[in-house]
Amino acid sequence: MTLSPRLKKIVEFADKCGVVADIGTDHALVPVYLVENGFSNKAYACDIRPLPLKRADEYISSRNLSDKIATVLSDGLKYVPDGVDTVIIAGMGGEMIIDILSSDNTHGNALFVLQPMTAINELRLYLYSNGYTILDEEIVSEHADKKLYSVMKVRKTAEQTYYSELDILLSPALQSKKTREKGLYIKKNIKSRIDIIENLKKSSSPDVEYLRKTESEIKLLKRCLYEE
Ligand SMILES: C[S@@+](CC[C@H](N)C(=O)[O-])C[C@H]1O[C@@H](n2cnc3c(N)ncnc32)[C@H](O)[C@@H]1O
Repeated sequence: MTLSPRLKKIVEFADKCGVVADIGTDHALVPVYLVENGFSNKAYACDIRPLPLKRADEYISSRNLSDKIATVLSDGLKYVPDGVDTVIIAGMGGEMIIDILSSDNTHGNALFVLQPMTAINELRLYLYSNGYTILDEEIVSEHADKKLYSVMKVRKTAEQTYYSELDILLSPALQSKKTREKGLYIKKNIKSRIDIIENLKKSSSPDVEYLRKTESEIKLLKRCLYEE
């Protein structure tokens, strides 16, 4: 089975993951890959909707893996059994990932592989404010650079993690990377902020605080670009 670059990075970050839970599994591509390739010996393919779970079940049976991968109908981690080493939450909005993490009290010791589609800065802020450390983060490109995805490897380590304004835009792990995709991600973030400022300036009563914050973010991002 060949995985997309995004899914490849997710399985790379999950690595040798023992017992893994894939939340929002849809077709169960990731758990099947991890078990088939010997990275995981037991997996839970979890989804909130019965239809994706039916698809997951069919795919798991077609690969003769029903003894190693169980499907679980679950909102987030609610019905995921204990004893999971790695939790993957990928392909959904950052707000939903925050909701799933904040509703759970029993899987805090696991390694989390997170891949938010939106609200990436909000997710980083949530993680720092709730004692999680972003151990690694990379940007993955798909569709000839039209799509850029952040993939994070995260663990709960403390009550509070200290962070700067820049750490919200790019985690320290991502700041240390020198990849082409990171450069593209920074440029995209600068461009979206320039657009915001142009629109704010058109307004008769622009939000001055938001304007200043956005300008300050552009400066921080540009500095990272020149340090490449
Ligand atoms: C776009 S698919 C992502 C599939 C796969 N994880 C990936 O990254 O390619 C999102 C899946 O998340 C499921 N989902 C959305 N909210 C969820 C929640 N709170 N708990 C579990 N699954 C959820 C949806 O039903 C859908 O199957």
